[in-house]
Amino acid sequence: ADDSDDGSKPKDYNIVGLDQSSSSDSESEETVETAVIASSKTKCSEEEVSPVAAPKEAVIQPTEPVEKVVTYKPTIYVHVERSKEIQAARLKLPILGEEQVIMETINENSIIILTGETGSGKTTQVPQFLYEAGYAEKKLIGITEPRRVAAISMSKRVATEMNLGTDVVSYLIRFEGNVTNKTKIKFMTDGVLLKELENDFTLTKYSVIILDEAHERSVYTDILVGLLSRIVLLREKRNDPLKLIIMSATLRVEDFTKNKKLFKNVPPVLSVETRQFPVTIHFNKHTFDNYEEEAYKKAVKIHRKLPEGGILIFLTGQHEVNNLVRKLRKAFPYHRTDETNTEKTKESSDAHYSDSEDGDEMDMKKAIQNSKKAKKKLRSMLSLPQISLDNYKLPTDDTDADLLDDSSIKDDDSDSDSEEEDNLSFVDLKSSQPMWVLPLYSLLPSDKQSRVFEKPPEGARLCVVSTNVAETSLTIPNIKYVIDSGRVKTRLYDKVTGVSSFVVTFTSKAGANQRAGRAGRTAPGYCYRLYSSAVYENEFDDITVPDIQKKPVDDLMLQMKCMGIDKVINFPFPSPPDLVQLQTAEYKLKLLGALEAVESSKSDKLTKVTPLGQAISAFPVAPRFGKMLALSHQQSLLPYTVCMVAALSVQEVLIEVSQEQTNEKKSKWLPTRIKWAGAGNSLLLGDPFVLLRAVGESEYAGSEGKLKEFCETNGLRPKAVAEIRKLRVQLTNEINLSLNDVGLCVDPKMVPPTDHQAKLLRQILLAGMGDQVAKKISDDEMKDSDDRQRFKYGYRSPEMEEPVFMHASSVLRKSKPEWVIYQEIFETDLKNGASKKMCMRGVTAIEPEWLLIYVRSMCNIRSVKEDPPPRYNESDGKVYCHVEATFGRSGWQLPLSEIE
Ligand code: CDP
Ligand code: MG
Repeated sequence: ADDSDDGSKPKDYNIVGLDQSSSSDSESEETVETAVIASSKTKCSEEEVSPVAAPKEAVIQPTEPVEKVVTYKPTIYVHVERSKEIQAARLKLPILGEEQVIMETINENSIIILTGETGSGKTTQVPQFLYEAGYAEKKLIGITEPRRVAAISMSKRVATEMNLGTDVVSYLIRFEGNVTNKTKIKFMTDGVLLKELENDFTLTKYSVIILDEAHERSVYTDILVGLLSRIVLLREKRNDPLKLIIMSATLRVEDFTKNKKLFKNVPPVLSVETRQFPVTIHFNKHTFDNYEEEAYKKAVKIHRKLPEGGILIFLTGQHEVNNLVRKLRKAFPYHRTDETNTEKTKESSDAHYSDSEDGDEMDMKKAIQNSKKAKKKLRSMLSLPQISLDNYKLPTDDTDADLLDDSSIKDDDSDSDSEEEDNLSFVDLKSSQPMWVLPLYSLLPSDKQSRVFEKPPEGARLCVVSTNVAETSLTIPNIKYVIDSGRVKTRLYDKVTGVSSFVVTFTSKAGANQRAGRAGRTAPGYCYRLYSSAVYENEFDDITVPDIQKKPVDDLMLQMKCMGIDKVINFPFPSPPDLVQLQTAEYKLKLLGALEAVESSKSDKLTKVTPLGQAISAFPVAPRFGKMLALSHQQSLLPYTVCMVAALSVQEVLIEVSQEQTNEKKSKWLPTRIKWAGAGNSLLLGDPFVLLRAVGESEYAGSEGKLKEFCETNGLRPKAVAEIRKLRVQLTNEINLSLNDVGLCVDPKMVPPTDHQAKLLRQILLAGMGDQVAKKISDDEMKDSDDRQRFKYGYRSPEMEEPVFMHASSVLRKSKPEWVIYQEIFETDLKNGASKKMCMRGVTAIEPEWLLIYVRSMCNIRSVKEDPPPRYNESDGKVYCHVEATFGRSGWQLPLSEIE
């Protein structure tokens, strides 16, 4: 690589790179033809191994001729010494037969899309093809994975297959990795590559970038696709071509191929045909919420009644996985005799099965004890419904007719969901074959992860309990039965605060079919869906929405600006977010001070991130709340602000006081709330402080029963309080992680803020909600009695023509401070139903002088006063003077204030 050309002016490239899409759309209007190119023999086929999957044709969609094709014709062939076993295993992979076609397409095109069923060998083989073709001779081969687990495990696998050390085939994930200066093939998470782009915008270190698992549509991969589509052009211009290979399971590649803004010339799409054996799909008659329990029952049934073959169970998270692993191990203990494999575990069996640790060894004595106890304990503990085995009509051998039927999907009528039918008794456990139960999830230590690829011990049946990691990222060999909970954990964002939480939802149809496909890799298989076909048809989306469209746009905007992508609006997203929303986000971020306009040679308004914006982006919440957290961090008020942000994310924490009349008990609430809203003096601070104190006090309530009582006495919704507690911990952990700073910890026993702290907190709230200021309508504004009628107790908000009013639930309703900020405005019906009223909720009192300091972007400074004269402050070296200013578009007069 030539060092002088290392993208040392990344920002320039940014601007150039992202706005050249629209130039020649008309050219690409031509029809795309599909040609079938026969694959040729691979150079590895000298060994006599008959591939299970006969090499199939690769389907290539050539695109219209590219004017200037930069071809990279490696002249070297790099020899790799592989073991016989490895070579035999490789030759069974369908992709091996396609090596030549794939390599020719890569050599002749800058960008290619490679699709193929999960398990066809894309991730493990393509980097090897490239290596052998000389792509790693001068520069690196880079492969991105959306999941950490895949980056680690795939790098290890490729190193083993190639007989090379992990110093040559390495991985890099956040906070961890084994990359050396000898590294030639580098697996990394997509986030890591994005970080590298900040310092080396044209990725000069790399000759190829493979974006793996592009169908997962992680935010980072989508951004990378957009960026790389331009970087490839830049590298072409420099005569230092970079190859881009987008790899995906056979799910929806249209977002990449049909998007003209992204690729002017549609890249060729190669698809590796895979031999997929038929999978018989059984739906449950009913869809139960306790899918964990259902999965357990199903696994027990399969294990006891059906012929050998691995079981793969899809659940949603680590906790569920560990629970089920523990239960299955207790039900079918594996008696280990092979000394060499025994890890020394001296803990009690309970500790052994604790959540944080899911090792699978236990000593003999414990195992025997456990197997005896297991029956008893399980029977009493689980009180499982009885299963009538006679009625349980699963096909029991491979010659069964419906095995041959590729599309045999049926409702499993025989599935015994009702108690009467169930007849399973654990007395039979003795006769059961042992089960080799392994967990699989992203955060599992990598040595434990790789166990799923090993052969289970002789005589034991493999059962892997996994999150959706096993859906497309990792292929586990010899799975014949898939049990699909149909659920997946997805991130949901709170619309207001941007705080995200994980919720369990149904997966998509595409996802469910991928899961089913895992059963038919090496032989016909079965998939048991723990939900009904009606639910599948009606409640499952066809495909999962790309993350980038789920993420709040203001977060996305700020995040991309922080990456140095200045023209987010024009960014070639594979699935673009709403344009108007993006524009609004940019405007709002400017008001917040996270972005600032830059003088640009062109006339368009370009914004860049400010240092404040950088600080804000470190927090995993909506930018306005990120700003509050960033400012609190400076003032050591973080725990309070975290608590408020968490409280604001939860709906209806306080039961509305307006229902007061109906219940005597409830009349107690208001005085308490008013007390909570104060700061020890008569001044009322506002509604967020009621929440802060409510959460704080509830931590002292004690036992669960006491807490319930406390909630009842004070008009709090217990579920909401529990939710806030959870969010506080989660938010604190995430903040610690992003700040990489262990200084912060959530102390559940919060003491109320002091007067001074409360004042700072109000200023912090203002800093985040500066666009949501309201001012009481003054008497001067009311010209006649009609006005007085309409505007009585009303406020003006810059956003709104109509007057706004304090909502009945606000503690400030009586005191009505002159200047306030609100969390939201909403419309309510008046009692008579005739007219509507705009109401403010979540109101905090502020001082107008603060506006000039915390929301400067919305203030207009009219004049600088000579009297009193400017003052030099020695402690910060700044000059302060008094100014006359107005606020907002409506030009509200601010009191004479001293500013920097
Ligand atoms: O990327 P794709 O889904 O197309 O397939 P892959 O991940 O490259 O896997 C190809 C084969 O390698 C599968 O049959 C895996 O089971 C196997 N493999 C393995 O045996 N051990 C590993 N550590 C990783 C993959
Ligand atoms: Mg893969």
